[in-house]
Amino acid sequence: MTHKSLFIVLDGIDGCGSTTHSQLLAAFLEHKKHFKVHLTYEPSKSEIGKILRKFLKNKEIPPTTDALLFAADRDLHYHNEIKKKLDDGFIVISDRYIESSIIYQSIQSDKISIEWIKELNKFIGYPDLTIILDIEPKIALARKNEKYLEKFEDTSFLDKVRKLYLSRAINEGYHVINSDDIIEYVQEKIQKTVLNMLNS
Ligand code: TYD
Repeated sequence: MTHKSLFIVLDGIDGCGSTTHSQLLAAFLEHKKHFKVHLTYEPSKSEIGKILRKFLKNKEIPPTTDALLFAADRDLHYHNEIKKKLDDGFIVISDRYIESSIIYQSIQSDKISIEWIKELNKFIGYPDLTIILDIEPKIALARKNEKYLEKFEDTSFLDKVRKLYLSRAINEGYHVINSDDIIEYVQEKIQKTVLNMLNS
């Protein structure tokens, strides 16, 4: 068994496929490559994460409240779960992480700067690898059931979200992978990116 800790995040607009691809990637690394893998997600499964899931259905929640709660959820998630697994030599894969807060919360309000989000999240550890799955909002939302759309699942909002993901990806050196393609093909590109990182 190989023991090499690595912290990987898959992120992108709603409906980009981060959940499906995180699961496929975890199965590949664990069963085909025999790494110890811990798969997780945000909002997390903690009590704070559960409140956040409820708030995703409520348009009355101020964006500042969302930002504070997402930061609290992440602080707990990092210290009580992610860090422990990394210390034990696991590869940790998180479906969304701080990049989601930087993008979604800062776009919601002029009062919310990226610097403030970073300040709120200042005690967390950062990923070794962030992969942004890119897709057009219209196509991403067509994959969802319209009756159950959450507050951020709106094409014009997601157009802004996508633009900010792409511009930050260039500045921050994130990997961008087009996810409007056959699942196996997209997954193969993700696996190659991760294996390159593990071999480097
Ligand atoms: P989720 O059901 O995980 O999204 P999907 O499966 O469609 O990718 O819902 C997460 C939602 O929460 C998504 O709309 C993005 C939002 N979010 C934030 O606004 N800030 C954050 O920090 C995180 C982690 C998520």
